[in-house]
Amino acid sequence: MIKIAIFASGNGSNFEAIIKYFKKSNLVSENKIKFYCISDKKAAYVLTRAKKLNIQAFYVPFEKTYDFMKKNKFNLAVLAGYMRILPEEVLNLSVFINLHPSLLPKYKGKNAIEQAFNAKEKETGVTVHYVTKEVDSGEIIEQKSVKIKEGMTLEELTYKIHKIEHKLLPKVIEKVIKKYNVLIVGSGAREHAIAYKLKKSKRLNKLYLFKPNDGFKDIGEIIESNNYENLAKEAKRRQTDLVIIGPEQPLAEGIVDIFRKYKINCIGADKYWTQLESSKIFAKKFMERNKIPTAKYTVIEDMNDIKNIKFKFPYVIKADGLAAGKGVCIVKNFQEAEKTICEYLNGKFNEASKKIVVEEFLEGKEISLISMWDGKHLLPLLPARDYKKLNNRNKGPNTGGMGAICPAKVDNSQIKNYVKLLKSALRKEKADFRGIIYSGLIQTKDGIKVLEFNMRFGDPETQVLMLSLKSDLLEIFINTIEKKLSKTRVEWRKNPSACVVLAVKGYPTKPKTGDEIILTGKLKSKLFFAGVKKENNKLYTSSGRIISVCKNSKNPVIDVYKDIDNITYKNKIYRTDINFDE
Ligand code: AMP
Ligand code: GLY
Repeated sequence: MIKIAIFASGNGSNFEAIIKYFKKSNLVSENKIKFYCISDKKAAYVLTRAKKLNIQAFYVPFEKTYDFMKKNKFNLAVLAGYMRILPEEVLNLSVFINLHPSLLPKYKGKNAIEQAFNAKEKETGVTVHYVTKEVDSGEIIEQKSVKIKEGMTLEELTYKIHKIEHKLLPKVIEKVIKKYNVLIVGSGAREHAIAYKLKKSKRLNKLYLFKPNDGFKDIGEIIESNNYENLAKEAKRRQTDLVIIGPEQPLAEGIVDIFRKYKINCIGADKYWTQLESSKIFAKKFMERNKIPTAKYTVIEDMNDIKNIKFKFPYVIKADGLAAGKGVCIVKNFQEAEKTICEYLNGKFNEASKKIVVEEFLEGKEISLISMWDGKHLLPLLPARDYKKLNNRNKGPNTGGMGAICPAKVDNSQIKNYVKLLKSALRKEKADFRGIIYSGLIQTKDGIKVLEFNMRFGDPETQVLMLSLKSDLLEIFINTIEKKLSKTRVEWRKNPSACVVLAVKGYPTKPKTGDEIILTGKLKSKLFFAGVKKENNKLYTSSGRIISVCKNSKNPVIDVYKDIDNITYKNKIYRTDINFDE
């Protein structure tokens, strides 16, 4: 049951508008929500009105508000014409929202309609915002503007504003209390980290999981299905509001297009825009059209095209399509290039390497910049860095990622310019999806350039981002779906986060699996599981990467390495040089 307190000092017309609006909602008839009326004025008409409407009403003198709120635990408190300023200790007892008759931050305080009118504004309006101890300054939830026409009187304007208040406030309440059923698609440590963070959200109702690994399957309800069409049907049946797609494969196969048919919102790109990840040629052409800095390149479709390459060695050879992170090869001379290109064209990565991009080699530090995109606005998260190579000092083969840190040190003004550039490119090309754009950037001596795009959260960058994120992740996802990223402010923890990935010998080619995992001592780090299986309540290794050991603290690297000694299994491998100074 959701308990909502409505505070008013006067006649309570907004109070009545709220009650009437919710009378029609089945939340009231099913007893899922209950309203209470609170006034600091004994003679306020709102108390009479409440009784007439069959709502419990309380006269609570201002000084008694703390005790009253402490005793009655309300999920939400709405200030709807309440003429007092509540102290912080009261505000801490519930979530407070306030209705204010102006377009905040303009005209705070008393007589806001009159202030705007006297200032000869052409428009004013109504704001509903969260309440903080600074008057009329909390985060804005919703605003509606009202034109002040030539010759309009103050009374006419006041009447118009009140009408809008009566419409807006109930809608905002409905929005603030709506809880979401969320489905996460994917089975790795990345999806475990997203699930962990979503579980902390005030807005979460049910968490559904599709193909979770045994290390986190217990934190949600599993939906089984053997194809995406069925998955969408099952999700619909369970009233899923939002789907988060973790890995690239389902995105490239068009899972978002399928869910769209069922009118279920996804955080993820449709098949067309996923080509920014699933086709290197598509991505290069997109960057070329939009003057986004990237390495020079040549497209190769047969051996004759090699002669078109006009830059110097080393070359970076990339399969056009998805190759599970293994499709990139660096060659130092013509012989190696010819041999590799021949292997690729002959199907080394099947269809994915029937076309190739050959790029000039770029040098510099890499940055993973993961951003949310709502179709109009791009909201970058903290810059992170992952450690892609298997061995210390960035030696050995590329992997899915052996560790990560955030925040990564970056040149802020270059990042800002890059975000601007990407945003206008996506706008210009009408990228109509709500999801994620991961820019794999490199800080070269000629400025930031793009190495690759992914259309999903990075793994293991997500593990550190989730620990660094202070704001409610589900709130960010909801704002993405509702195209409100321009108004979304994200808060981050002051301390940095680090992640070290524990893998097994033989990874990435032939992982040695099947060994029992023993956790000893009291671990201070957060463990996000990937390649694990549970049998008879024991955990076993089951693929290449096993556990992301993560921590947000003053010295997260030290903390994580301490804990790693208490996680044992045969064939354990990990990098010992994950740090912030690379
Ligand atoms: P990609 O699949 O395009 O992300 O490439 C995987 C990794 O290969 C990148 O994260 C880089 O470490 C490396 N790489 C890709 N392109 C280049 C390039 N043009 N110059 C240097 N390294 C590159
Ligand atoms: N960490 C790199 C990726 O997720 O592709």
